[in-house]
Amino acid sequence: MYDYTQPLSRSEASRAEVRQQTDIELSGKEWTLLPDVFSPAHSKSSLAHLSLLEFPVGGTFLEIGSGIGLIAVEAALAGCRAVYATDLNPAAVKNTELNAERFGVADRVTAVHSDLFDALHDAPAFDVVYWHSNNVWAPPELDLTAHELAYVDPGYEAHRRYFREARNHLAPGGRVLIALSSRAGRPELDELAAADEQRLITLDSTTVDEPEGPVVYELLELVTR
Ligand SMILES: C[S@@+](CC[C@H](N)C(=O)[O-])C[C@H]1O[C@@H](n2cnc3c(N)ncnc32)[C@H](O)[C@@H]1O
Repeated sequence: MYDYTQPLSRSEASRAEVRQQTDIELSGKEWTLLPDVFSPAHSKSSLAHLSLLEFPVGGTFLEIGSGIGLIAVEAALAGCRAVYATDLNPAAVKNTELNAERFGVADRVTAVHSDLFDALHDAPAFDVVYWHSNNVWAPPELDLTAHELAYVDPGYEAHRRYFREARNHLAPGGRVLIALSSRAGRPELDELAAADEQRLITLDSTTVDEPEGPVVYELLELVTR
């Protein structure tokens, strides 16, 4: 498991922190990136996961933790009828709105400031619920910035809640997905899923060379046991 108790100045999160609004290029498109928001230009994870995802074209898609809105906007551009995007970080909610406007899909993307599902009061049921989670484990007592919380989940508390609550937001036949990397504590996450009579099954994966060595990015589905 990736060790987040290393000094923060050496952490991936600190290296990727952006101090001012900027434009970043991803897959031939220019995106807005606000300060304190997870940057898909600094981490190869977002594009790796995007390459594994199939959107429910014509259907409804919920992205938890939308960051700059890359996945939410791509879902709308791919033809999802309604896309909701939540993030705990208010700057990420604003960033998702800005990119939805930039790509002309603001009418189909609703960005909500929410801790997981908490503020989704008027949302429809979803064909797919997806979270590219901050899946690096950290000790529960760590006090972290919003930017660092884009990478780590202290005590895996948010994962515990995602596993418990996501299925309550599904349309009939809907699916709960989660995007993880080999930096995650997979045995701990499997245990959390099992505690709710569920299990994680891998749908697809890709391996990317990163400075510390190859990293595996996986798309998984949370299913009832
Ligand atoms: C690894 S980043 C992924 C960002 C974006 N989806 C992407 O693929 O580039 C995880 C995101 O989840 C958000 N997040 C972390 N905990 C959350 C929570 N409890 N509720 C909602 N969003 C959360 C973070 O702020 C961050 O934007």
